[in-house]
Formats: sequence, structure tokens, C-alpha cells
Amino acid sequence: MGAHRLISLTRRVPDLDLTREFYRQFGLQETAPGTFATELGGDQLHLLPGDVPEVVEVHIGVDSPDDLDAIAERLARYGVTRAAGSIAAVEPVSGVRVRLSVAERLPKQTPYTAPTSVKRDELVRRGDLLPLRLGHLAIGCTDVEEAKVFFIDGIGMRLSDYVIGGPFMRFETDHHNVVLLPAPMTLLHHTAWKVRDIDEIGYGGSRMIENHPERHAWGLGRHGASANYFWYLKDPAGAFAEYYYSEMDDLAPDPLFWDPVPGTGELPVAVWASPALHERPLVPEAMRAPLLDAER
Ligand SMILES: [Fe+2]
Repeated sequence: MGAHRLISLTRRVPDLDLTREFYRQFGLQETAPGTFATELGGDQLHLLPGDVPEVVEVHIGVDSPDDLDAIAERLARYGVTRAAGSIAAVEPVSGVRVRLSVAERLPKQTPYTAPTSVKRDELVRRGDLLPLRLGHLAIGCTDVEEAKVFFIDGIGMRLSDYVIGGPFMRFETDHHNVVLLPAPMTLLHHTAWKVRDIDEIGYGGSRMIENHPERHAWGLGRHGASANYFWYLKDPAGAFAEYYYSEMDDLAPDPLFWDPVPGTGELPVAVWASPALHERPLVPEAMRAPLLDAER
């Protein structure tokens, strides 16, 4: 019981029309201007116009009104506001507003088993690609340890791992749902959208860069910390959008069965990827120096 999933993310972006076009082509369904839905999660991305890119709100689902009361108590020192059916507080390091409300849990997908043989016709996708849900988001901020307290002690998330100096935190059995990364200012590093299998990652990624080679950031690859396959694309507002498929959304809910090793940097960001790791394709210019420092 408690917080169990991301409901949605609200962002401000400077070039709204270009960013909307990007996410339409990414496969999200635009249900109203600037509002984008996944297959399972409903409306999960809200884009608003702004002079500069900004993370406005992270909306998180909980199981019951009792959960809202318990979390409101734990977040009391941050100043909680209440509205009908929801509570909200601002994480002070990043300035990001986190809202919580009661929401249905999403169904677990049955584990994918790669077919040992495929008919040629089945390899050619003819339909559109609609991601299943928003799986995680990574936010850069100036003090990840301080910001972590809000999510762990306040929201009740669990720590899964540290990778490149950032805590990877989860609600339930997903390896990570919220990631904090060291950065010189608050920024959205990436959002990650779950698809059905590795073919959909390849299909989606290659289709996105077909007439837009500048969108290609990193992929295809496989992460070390969570074992998911990935392909990252650059959106027009300076964040990355990740297609991912994971066979490892299955950590034990009890934190005693998982033992993260803070700060060791032992887990590779990727076990393999194109382009190679040393090219650092996922580090925005503004984050490059702090991330390199964190790894030393
Ligand atoms: Fe990711």
C-alpha cells in the first residue's frame, strides 16, 4: 500500500508545437493539445508553453485516502497543500511540485518471451507504436542527497541503486521510477516509456530518426543497473525520451531483499550500447562537468 506509480509529468517547453510534434511521432496519443496518453496509463504527459524548459509537476498515484494522510504527515515540514482528492508539496532542492492522488494500479504485463522463430510477415510492423506507460523519469538537481529525502522519507519510495552519482528509486517492484542526477540546475534529464518488446524499441527508434538524425542520442543498448533495453532520443526541449523494455521489473517489494551500494559506481550505466559508453551521449552540456566529477 502507498505510492505505487507515476500518473503524469507536467513540463513547460519553449517550442511547444515542435515538442508536441516530437511526442506525437514518438507514439504518444495527443488527447488534447499538449496532453499525451499511453495505452495503459491514460494522460501521462502535459506540455505547457514557457520561456525556458521547466519541470512543473510530477503526479504520483497512491492506493487510498489513508495513504494521502500518511504521506501528508511525513511531508509536513515541506508545507502540504490539499485539494479535492489530492495533496501536493514542493521538493525544495529542485523546486518541483509533487502531487499525489488515489489512482488505480496498472496491470502487470506478463513477462515477454522472445519467440525462437518469427514469421517474416510478423516482423514488418504496419501499425502505429503506442507506448504502454510512463515508467520513470530522471531529474537533474543540485543536491541529490537532500532531494532524495523527500522521495524516500516523505513519499515512501525505496532506494534501488546508485548509478553515476544518482539515486534510483522505486515505488514497488520496478527497478526505478524516479531518478535524481547531479546537475548544476534543475532540469528534466529524461522520461522513459515502456514498450512491448525489443522489436518495438528498434522500430520506434529507427522510425524517429529516419528523417531526423539529430534526434538520435543513445541506443540501442542494455542498461546495467536495471537490465532494460533502451534507445534514447533528444526532444526539442533539451530532454531525452527513452523507449525501454525490461525483463526485470521485478525487484522484491521488501527493501530488505535488495541491497543497494551507495556511491560505489560499480554498476555500469550500460553493459553494451551504440554509440559506445565513452562518447557520453546522454550528458547535456550543462551536466557534463558535475557528472564527471561525481564519477572520480
Ligand atoms: Fe531511463
